[in-house]
Order: sequence, then structure tokens, then C-alpha cells
Amino acid sequence: MTGRPPGAAVAGLASRIEAAATPGRRFVVGIAGSPGSGKTTLAVALVDHLNARRQGVAAHLPMDGFHLANDMLDRRGLRDRKGAIETFDGWGFVALLGRLRVETDHTIYAPSFRREVDEGIAGEIAIEPDVDIVVVEGNYLLVDRPPWAGVRSQLDAAWFCRTPEADREARLIDRHVRHGRTREAATTFAREVDGANALLVDASASRADLVVSGVTAEPGSVVPER
Ligand SMILES: Nc1ncnc2c1ncn2[C@@H]1O[C@H](COP(=O)(O)OP(=O)(O)O)[C@@H](O)[C@H]1O
Ligand SMILES: [Mg+2]
Repeated sequence: MTGRPPGAAVAGLASRIEAAATPGRRFVVGIAGSPGSGKTTLAVALVDHLNARRQGVAAHLPMDGFHLANDMLDRRGLRDRKGAIETFDGWGFVALLGRLRVETDHTIYAPSFRREVDEGIAGEIAIEPDVDIVVVEGNYLLVDRPPWAGVRSQLDAAWFCRTPEADREARLIDRHVRHGRTREAATTFAREVDGANALLVDASASRADLVVSGVTAEPGSVVPER
């Protein structure tokens, strides 16, 4: 998901990170938000912007790489709830976050998630030793229950990406259709499965220290009222 030119809002968020970061210590920013709110789009724009200023300074780390494999979801009877909090390897994700600040002398590999095949791919993301800023993003970063409750203390900054329900749902339906569902099936999934997940995510927004808009043509505007 690329191609959205970084503009003033993204530049503003990048400046916030630069102002808050301490030289010589890796800075980890987390972007939480409901499915379809625009987290990945914002994270990619931010990382592109930071890397345009200094190549290799920033890396994108999506929580989505920690989706359980489809086969595991089948074995656990969870396949029809894919995307729900219990369908991720939360402990593995929290452990990886813990490594980010400690293991700065070698590459840290992380799994990605490929929507085309609807599976995670091990070791597709490389966080090189000279990466100073890691932009982590995912639905459940701020949910206050184990193991997710262990995420917040590993973030130097926690943002919540907010998008009105109607826009979010429309985007999700389009995304499900693009990935092969009929419009009817996509609508049902977006309302029932994604909708239930969104309620849990929305309830975690108060643990963020900044709310950013996922709806402006250019992502990343700070939402003034909090
Ligand atoms: N700021 C924005 N303005 C308009 N459309 C957006 C914006 N951010 C994301 N989108 C669109 O919404 C959809 C979901 O965005 P995505 O970043 O994948 O959300 P998330 O990672 O939170 O699930 C995508 O189709 C994307 O192009
Ligand atoms: Mg995403």
C-alpha cells in the first residue's frame, strides 16, 4: 500500500518523532486503530517520509505479520473469526517488541502478512541495526489485557488512528471484495467480525497519547479534540 504522497500532516508527525527521540536509542512509535481506519497507510507514508530524509532510518513493523496461520485457525476452530484478537500470536508479537531496543547490533527479522495469499510470511521484514525509528501498527496495540497490555510500555509514543464508522466500513467492504469475497459476504464480515473487533479497539483509544485522523485525503492530521 504505497503511492500516497507524504504531505504536511505526515511531516508534522515525523517532526514530533524527531523531537521526542533520544540519539543513540531506538524510538518505537505505535499506531493503533480499528480495522480499515488507515493505520497501514499512515505508517507507510510516515516511514517513506522519514527515509526520504535519511535513508534507512525508519522501518515499518505491522502487527498483522503475527496472524496465526490458516491451518492453525482451522485446528483451533477460529477461521471464521480471522482478525479477532485471539487469532494473533500476541505473545510472539510482544516478545519481538521487547527485542527491538535490546538487539541493536544485528538485524531483527519479522514476519509480514500477505493479503494476496491471506497468510503471514516469516522473515520478510528486516529491521537493520541502523534503524533508529520503528513504526509499529495494528488493531490491538492498546488493548489492556494479557499479553497485549505489555505493548504500551514498549512504545515511546502511542497514537490512535480514528476514522468515522461509515468510511471505515465502506473501505473494509471494498478491501474484502478486492481480495475475493462477494459484496454480500464482504458486508457481513465487515459488520459482524470486523465490527466486533472495532468495538474492542475503540475502547482502547484512551491509552493513546495522540489521536490522528485516518480520513483526510492525506493521512496523519492530528485530531484536535480529545
Ligand atoms: N487518510 C486516508 N484517506 C482516504 N483513504 C484512506 C486513508 N487511509 C487509508 N485509506 C484507505 O482505506 C483503506 C484501509 O486503509 P489501511 O491503511 O489498510 O487500514 P488499516 O491498516 O487500519 O486496516 C485502504 O483502501 C486505504 O487506501
Ligand atoms: Mg493494516
